[in-house]
Amino acid sequence: MTVCEVPAHPTLHPALAGRFSPVSFDPDVSINPEQVDTLLEAARRAPSAGNSQPWKFIVGRRGDAVHQRIVRHLARSSSAWAPDASLLMVNLAHLYVDGTPDWEYSEFSRYDLGQAVAHMTIQGLHIGLDAHQFRAFDRDAVTAEFDVSPAWEVTSMTAFGTAGHAAGEAASPGTSRERATRDDITWMREPAGSEPADLDQ
Ligand SMILES: Cc1cc2nc3c(=O)[nH]c(=O)nc-3n(C[C@H](O)[C@H](O)[C@H](O)COP(=O)(O)O)c2cc1C
Repeated sequence: MTVCEVPAHPTLHPALAGRFSPVSFDPDVSINPEQVDTLLEAARRAPSAGNSQPWKFIVGRRGDAVHQRIVRHLARSSSAWAPDASLLMVNLAHLYVDGTPDWEYSEFSRYDLGQAVAHMTIQGLHIGLDAHQFRAFDRDAVTAEFDVSPAWEVTSMTAFGTAGHAAGEAASPGTSRERATRDDITWMREPAGSEPADLDQ
């Protein structure tokens, strides 16, 4: 394991090098509807299996009615920091075809949702918004609160806003900046310096 330092690598995209999950947000910073639209636009453009686009989002700007309904269902851990974020987004995956609870909509639904959320978080950094994805909330309660149909899964949430601290400066249970090494995450790869095989011979 190594600690995920910022910047992590000289050729890494700045958004990837600088990204971290804040555990406090500036409660005085608001997000405007255009910024919300930009985040949704980033998600909309993500690739997905067969272009299935198996995602939807419940959007709560701090202070609005949807936000209040989301905040009620946060776990004790996330309620310490998430309500201060400018925006809470509930991330939904389309698991089943409507009306047929055992007929998979797409076997890649959660994969695709994760990628759409990743696009959103990187786009967020581009417009000055930090993000913290999390699962520390009552999923069943959120499902009931927003009348989410059985075909859909309330998968995770994302808090967007302005971080109240720099990367690595604040800790919270369940979060860590430690990372497996590149070798750890490489299942198979030719050793550095080895020449690619000449396919013509
Ligand atoms: C699907 C998912 C669920 C997560 N759940 C939580 C959570 O419940 N509470 C929390 O504080 N952080 C949560 N995180 C954030 C991770 O803990 C965090 O990304 C990880 O520790 C790495 O830190 P970094 O994002 O600052 O690099 C979650 C992240 C993801 C992608």
